[in-house]
Amino acid sequence: MANIISIINNKGGTGKTTTVLNLGAALSRKRKRVLLVDLDSQCNLTSAFGVDSNGVGIGELLIGKADFLDVVKRNGKLSLIPASEKLIDYEFQLSNEPGREYMLREQLERVAHNYDYIIIDCPPSLGTLSTNSLVAAKHFIVPMQAENFAFIGLDRIMLISDKVKKRMNPDLALAGILFVKLDPRTKFSQAVIHSLSENQNFAGKLFNTYIRQDISLMESGAFKQTVYEYAPKSRGAHDYNDLAKEILKIYG
Ligand SMILES: Nc1ncnc2c1ncn2[C@@H]1O[C@H](COP(=O)(O)OP(=O)(O)O)[C@@H](O)[C@H]1O
Ligand SMILES: [Mg+2]
Repeated sequence: MANIISIINNKGGTGKTTTVLNLGAALSRKRKRVLLVDLDSQCNLTSAFGVDSNGVGIGELLIGKADFLDVVKRNGKLSLIPASEKLIDYEFQLSNEPGREYMLREQLERVAHNYDYIIIDCPPSLGTLSTNSLVAAKHFIVPMQAENFAFIGLDRIMLISDKVKKRMNPDLALAGILFVKLDPRTKFSQAVIHSLSENQNFAGKLFNTYIRQDISLMESGAFKQTVYEYAPKSRGAHDYNDLAKEILKIYG
């Protein structure tokens, strides 16, 4: 049965999409069966995967207008449920649906036996779609930059995830906080990491792996490739491989 992981942060530009794509690619290179889910109407994951964002996708699946096999795309060993710009309209429709928070879980439960990992790319907000991802997931990862005010966002995510855990998904757990775009040489980023590791709410919840700043990670997505296709020897390829190893160690 798939381990479903939500990659969540209500801020934009914190490396969610990059992490979903390249952690997914790294796990699939370790012979894991991986399904990626694009829950963001900006469709960045869908575009990076090389899939047209005008087709049917997660929105149609969630409201029952399409089946899984109508929407799933494959690229080598990786599979994707794409998003389209119409997802915004479907999110609006969902807001009147009884049990709207369970729509994604319902769909993923049907296919979870075919995958080892399902990794969900969230939009930069904590609305219905992000809540759906937390209800469907067993774990969530919060990618963030080591910068000022990082904590404030974290508090909001933890508040929402605590409510989801209490009311809808008792198994939900924080897999870890992942520092991305890191320049490990700067004193400032070291200070942010240190203060977070000292915080009792997050002690033991920082991944040992950091994703360093790497232009290959930016370029590969724009060229519709994973970092393993675009620059297999890059720092980015190395770091996401380390993250995949760390995750396999925790979750087998
Ligand atoms: N480790 C990294 N080094 C350099 N650029 C990165 C790194 N991770 C992400 N980026 C770039 O930062 C921008 C935001 O990342 P993205 O994954 O799209 O964030 P989000 O999905 O949270 O909005 C993108 O242009 C992406 O290519
Ligand atoms: Mg994104």
